[in-house]
Amino acid sequence: MDLFIEDEHYFGVDLGNSGIRLVELKLIHDKPTLVTYGDIELPFGLMSSDAPADQARVSEVLKKLVADARVSTKNVVAGLPASKVFASVVKLPKMADNEIAHTIRFQADKYIPMPLDQVKLDFFRITQDKEAEEIEVLLVATPTSVANKYLNIFQQAGLELMALDINAIAQSRSMVPNADIDVVVVEFASLTTDMGLISAGVPGLIRSVNVGAKSLIRVTSQNLGLDEAQAEQFVRKFGLTQTKLEGQVYRSMKPLLDNVVEEIKRSMEFFYQSNPGRKVEKVVITGGPASIPEMPVYLANALGLPVEMGNPWQKISYATEFTDRLSGMALSYSTAVGLALRNMV
Ligand SMILES: Nc1ncnc2c1ncn2[C@@H]1O[C@H](COP(=O)(O)OP(=O)(O)OP(=O)(O)O)[C@@H](O)[C@H]1O
Ligand SMILES: [Mg+2]
Repeated sequence: MDLFIEDEHYFGVDLGNSGIRLVELKLIHDKPTLVTYGDIELPFGLMSSDAPADQARVSEVLKKLVADARVSTKNVVAGLPASKVFASVVKLPKMADNEIAHTIRFQADKYIPMPLDQVKLDFFRITQDKEAEEIEVLLVATPTSVANKYLNIFQQAGLELMALDINAIAQSRSMVPNADIDVVVVEFASLTTDMGLISAGVPGLIRSVNVGAKSLIRVTSQNLGLDEAQAEQFVRKFGLTQTKLEGQVYRSMKPLLDNVVEEIKRSMEFFYQSNPGRKVEKVVITGGPASIPEMPVYLANALGLPVEMGNPWQKISYATEFTDRLSGMALSYSTAVGLALRNMV
């Protein structure tokens, strides 16, 4: 959903369940350059609440963060997690982009499980070949109630929401090289794991699985008879290492992670049924829980693909004295950097 009027300056805000992060960039000699960044914790549950008092508290925290980071504008680009949008691939006969918006409106009710007057529609053209007889388009619908909640939070913080992006797309902007390759971006979050298949820079699929840090910790606490705080420590420390604690933590999390693996495989199969000849080159992972020990090697073995930790600073210029600090925060800043990069890369 784009509300830009013209080429206005803005910054990116990632409203997460456990914290808010912001990034402001400026183009200097065509290179996105870091102006400021910042993050602040958010009490868990506040962001998922629809109570006006909780939204007001989110706005207060956001306002403080923006003031502390000395952001130079009130214009914001924010993002929605995949779990808050409906995304489906729609096949259409050959047509120009300006016709797609019109045509898709009449077809959307077949794909969206909500009345169309209660959603905002957006689309991405997947098929780039202008001569193809049939084209594929990724249709994305955002419930109006969700968009309004975000508008309210920013408005109450004295900010102006310019665009509501999708986190997986923002992450691909910050972490996927600008090249003609296919990559799956996977974000491990607190309640879900979200993924986007990005084909030559275009989102081909967006999915969300109900497996997240909270369920991985819960299942470990149940299987090992630990309280949740201890279980979290074990997950963070031993992760998927099979030689630690006789592999008990590994075995407790494996069935849940295999659901994630299956969903990534299904997404790739679905996409390549109608896009033969292309192939995912690698999987890029992000989000706090991506740093669970041995996560990349576990996924690489299960998927038979290279898996790497995303680096959202790869397209950004910044002073060398920031290098250590920024690389230490790479997994939590992928969304905010990608939002700040909108209209830049
Ligand atoms: N190394 C880790 N091992 C296990 N859990 C972790 C690890 N790092 C972070 N977490 C947990 O993962 C969840 C998501 O962390 P993240 O930093 O990505 O927060 P967020 O972006 O605010 O959350 P969300 O994406 O769900 O909105 C949090 O609940 C956090 O406690
Ligand atoms: Mg997040």
